Amino acid sequence: MNEKENELVEAAMTARLRSIAPFSNFLVGSAVRTAEGRIYSGCNIESASYSLTVCAERVAIWKGLSEGERNFTELAVVADTALLTPPCGTCRQIIWEFGKHARIILANLRGEMEELSISDIIPKAFDARFLRESWR
Ligand code: THU
Repeated sequence: MNEKENELVEAAMTARLRSIAPFSNFLVGSAVRTAEGRIYSGCNIESASYSLTVCAERVAIWKGLSEGERNFTELAVVADTALLTPPCGTCRQIIWEFGKHARIILANLRGEMEELSISDIIPKAFDARFLRESWR
């Protein structure tokens, strides 16, 4: 991993410490980098109405999108697991739609890292292309 990737992983690690996860105690941090080099981070936020919980990856992406960002080049995910934690299915969909070209870096607290692309983990994704067929 190069210095820029380490910087992003560190931003995700810092965000992870802000997780609000009283039900699972599973702390996750994420960070996205934009083409211009700006970084937005996020942590998981759990609700007592469990299904309203939001993952760290989506918080980071929503923060960037809501600031007007549209071009993410990298996304890091950090959790304290031996097997590196990948984005959940819901987040894969959102990464496909809003960060298709981002390189995904999975990392843990032991300094282990792995790099993926979204097409590796969401083959045959659904997106707006299919909706357009019904507009004709
Ligand atoms: N979680 C994330 O934030 N990102 C992932 O990639 C996997 C799961 C969160 C959601 C929930 O707060 C907790 O981890 C347990 O599922």
